[in-house]
Amino acid sequence: MRQVPVGETPQELPILEIENLSVSRSGKVILKDIDLTIEKGEFIGIVGPNGSGKSTLLLAILGELRLQSGDIGIYGHPPQSRKLYGRIGWVSQAASNLPTHVRVTVRELVQLGTLNARNMFSFVDESRRERVRKAIEMVGLEDVENVDLGRLSGGQRQRAVIARALASEAEFILLDEPLVGIDRDARNSLLKLLDQLCHEQDKTILMVSHDLTAMRQTVHRMIFLEETIRFDGKTHNFPELTELADLRGIEPVHGEGHTHHHSHSKEE
Ligand SMILES: Nc1ncnc2c1ncn2[C@@H]1O[C@H](COP(=O)(O)OP(=O)(O)OP(=O)(O)O)[C@@H](O)[C@H]1O
Ligand SMILES: [Mg+2]
Repeated sequence: MRQVPVGETPQELPILEIENLSVSRSGKVILKDIDLTIEKGEFIGIVGPNGSGKSTLLLAILGELRLQSGDIGIYGHPPQSRKLYGRIGWVSQAASNLPTHVRVTVRELVQLGTLNARNMFSFVDESRRERVRKAIEMVGLEDVENVDLGRLSGGQRQRAVIARALASEAEFILLDEPLVGIDRDARNSLLKLLDQLCHEQDKTILMVSHDLTAMRQTVHRMIFLEETIRFDGKTHNFPELTELADLRGIEPVHGEGHTHHHSHSKEE
């Protein structure tokens, strides 16, 4: 029998397991019959038209929405279980346009990511300081760590928010449109960073983006979401845009007012 090396769990639970998920918002079905399993170390991209439920799916995973049906398990726990505290990082759709009237430096923001119920009232100790320093270094913001977020570019702000997630030592990082509002160089370095986090730090990343080209070049697995999952597979098997139109016709359209789609106007 094979010896299991120390530190390796013989049967590791999937990071995320979603079964038969449906979500309605304001009486309208937004997500339907979603089944999704994500294993540790995967780098997954979610694409889909505007309003197709991508952010809704992330919010459901974070436990922010009431489920109409189905189950979500993160390491086998329901979302928002105390057992998950600090293990999930979240970079929201609006991360690059954080309010600029709040004066907070990069280091302060990242340090907030290390706050938890246990250390809330104590001074920042050496290990927390070190985690903050490392996270800032990983995203390449050392030079501006004492600068107010309001004075940074969109790409730098995006990286600061990612550093906050890293400092929290989250293992599962959800990003909603992290590429919006940043220039090409910043986008490329951000994608490289995310790829490294998966490969070198064994993080698991679920990223929503409209930037199909960038996604194709970076993620290992792609999901096309439009109310339900229309495609889920290896990136190199992801259909061309022309075939996507067919994919969207596979399922009958549910409800009213859902027969046309907004354009992919964002960032392309
Ligand atoms: N708070 C809310 N209450 C009710 N309906 C909402 C709410 N937020 C979003 N919706 C609706 O849910 C649907 C899916 O929205 P969602 O934000 O998940 O889409 P998305 O795929 O992230 O779109 P985008 O690409 O524009 O970010 C849309 O029809 C939207 O109008
Ligand atoms: Mg969205």
